[in-house]
Amino acid sequence: MKFRFAIISDPHLAVPYTINHDHTRFSIVEIGILAIEKVFSHLEELDLDFLLIPGDLTQDGEPDNHSWLQQRLAILPFSVYVVPGNHDVPTLYSTQNTIGFQEFTKYYRFHGYSDSRQCYYTHEVLPGVQLIGLNSNQFNDEGKQLGCLDEKQLTWLEKLLPQLKDQLVLIMIHHNVIEHLPRQANHLLGKRYMLDNAPLLLDLLKNTGCRLIFTGHLHVQDIAYHNNIYEITTGSLVSYPHPYRIIEVERTCQRDINLNIKSHRVDRVPGWENLTTMSRQLLGERSFPFMLKLLTTSPFEISMKEAEKLVPHLKYFWADIAEGDNLFDFPEFPTEIRHYFQKFGSVKPDGTPALIDNCAHLEL
Ligand SMILES: [Fe+2]
Ligand SMILES: [Fe+2]
Repeated sequence: MKFRFAIISDPHLAVPYTINHDHTRFSIVEIGILAIEKVFSHLEELDLDFLLIPGDLTQDGEPDNHSWLQQRLAILPFSVYVVPGNHDVPTLYSTQNTIGFQEFTKYYRFHGYSDSRQCYYTHEVLPGVQLIGLNSNQFNDEGKQLGCLDEKQLTWLEKLLPQLKDQLVLIMIHHNVIEHLPRQANHLLGKRYMLDNAPLLLDLLKNTGCRLIFTGHLHVQDIAYHNNIYEITTGSLVSYPHPYRIIEVERTCQRDINLNIKSHRVDRVPGWENLTTMSRQLLGERSFPFMLKLLTTSPFEISMKEAEKLVPHLKYFWADIAEGDNLFDFPEFPTEIRHYFQKFGSVKPDGTPALIDNCAHLEL
């Protein structure tokens, strides 16, 4: 068995008249359609079996943006499967500008949701290859959006997974299940990217031998490994470094599966000839308040005055994180803080480099 698929994540698509020109966000929504067209042109040249888009398909769940994507996906020469991101279903019920949560499946009935009454699905994408598309968007009683799996979905999964033990199972979900940043699940700035009940899902997957999860949401290129499970998170198409992935899978004998992961970047689109440089610069400038917050909150809680001295060194820290495969050292930082930032590098637990975020060969 041999097949090839691609991943584009968090394209946050917006047709021009819907664009919200927000000068604080890290992404450049203005280039979304140009960038995805460029990627589609590349993917159309390949003998691609399918494409996965793990959420944040649209800028903010606008009906016109979902319609645009629905129509565009319908004319691609390969199958496409999607799951909703928090930006695709920002509200439980529809508003003037957003679709309601229940409407999502109707837009994507040819992209996983053959049963539009259910917001999660499983589909045999190729003989012996089973995709599971999960919904990580829930709403509490006050209508606040949460990143977790509901009981019903967990029960469904618990029943389903043992039936798939001879299949190669691919799990797609918007929120992160394994940490991609040190202490991500416990840190004020990182935990909102994690699935609240990630340990439950991980246990289910571990017990049934599922080893591959594909996510988005964090806008970072990273491959994380925990308890025999790989989580491949793909950065946003509309933020630096504008990546997408192409993955070749080969099953040599019944239990031997090799994955060859390659990442590509959109480095320019018409009207944005210096996209890479501009986008890195934008991330450098806009991440300043987050870097200040990182230093002044737990675990360091250093004074604003001290933080302001360190923060210029961190100008491109988030851009380098988003890019993946970087090592960090800030020798001028106090020892404890220096060690903390070193842990963000692409290193194994023993501190040696493990540059697998963009290009990797995984043997399952
Ligand atoms: Fe996103
Ligand atoms: Fe998201």
